[in-house]
Amino acid sequence: MKVTKDAYTLAGEAAAALRSAAGLDTFDVALVMGSGWVPAADAIGETVREIPFTDLPGFRAPAVAGHGGKIRVVRTSSGRHALIFLGRTHLYEGLGVDAVVHGVRTAAAAGVRTLVLTNAAGGLRPETQNVGDPVLISDHINLTGANPITGTTFIDLTEVYSRRLRALVREVDPSLAEGVYVAFRGPTYETPAEIRMLRTLGGDMVGMSTVLEAIAAREAGLEVLGISLVTNPGAGLSGEPLNHEEVLEVGRATAARMGVLLAKVVDRL
Ligand code: 6GU
Repeated sequence: MKVTKDAYTLAGEAAAALRSAAGLDTFDVALVMGSGWVPAADAIGETVREIPFTDLPGFRAPAVAGHGGKIRVVRTSSGRHALIFLGRTHLYEGLGVDAVVHGVRTAAAAGVRTLVLTNAAGGLRPETQNVGDPVLISDHINLTGANPITGTTFIDLTEVYSRRLRALVREVDPSLAEGVYVAFRGPTYETPAEIRMLRTLGGDMVGMSTVLEAIAAREAGLEVLGISLVTNPGAGLSGEPLNHEEVLEVGRATAARMGVLLAKVVDRL
């Protein structure tokens, strides 16, 4: 007998609680702000309400400093309503894959059709190694060992990250590079040998998030945009050791640029 509540049922309950807490029936877009991206949220619009994760069924407060812990409901200058997830659950926290994608399933159940996933990433190639640059995610390689979908539903992942949305972002900022994002489970950063392997495999950025949420979003039929903020070169590429504080610092330093970029993108959706 199944003893735990179905993850999709739980997301439906969270969506009902979210609609009621937000005082809104539906939302135009959801954005997940990864490490380093939280300070950029302020530029997206005017805050309507903030809902702590702990007020909604199935959510947990993020374990990591700099990862936020609430949903901000925002009204943009063009009158659109955005759900901004200030922080996310990562697979390395050990809560399981359903916890990682609960926010995405909740947003989908609340009526969202467009999802923007942001993250901090290590750069693997010269074109994706400029610290502080945003890079559009064109595709991913899922090396987390997990998948949010169980059963025999075969989901097409030919275009996880929408071509249409990438073109729209490039209208806002034509200088942006595009690349393949590789995800490991973490929480360790990679070894230099693993970074060399990822370059051989065709990876351009590496991180510990995004791919599972993108898969869950495609299952729900959402259109997905992914953007990495390059916060450091991959291990062994610069000679410097990696640390989370540096990731947050790059986020703070680039918040204004990332916020303006996201605000323009949301207003063009
Ligand atoms: Cl180099 N690796 C991983 N896995 N995550 C990161 C990173 C590197 N830089 C920022 N986040």
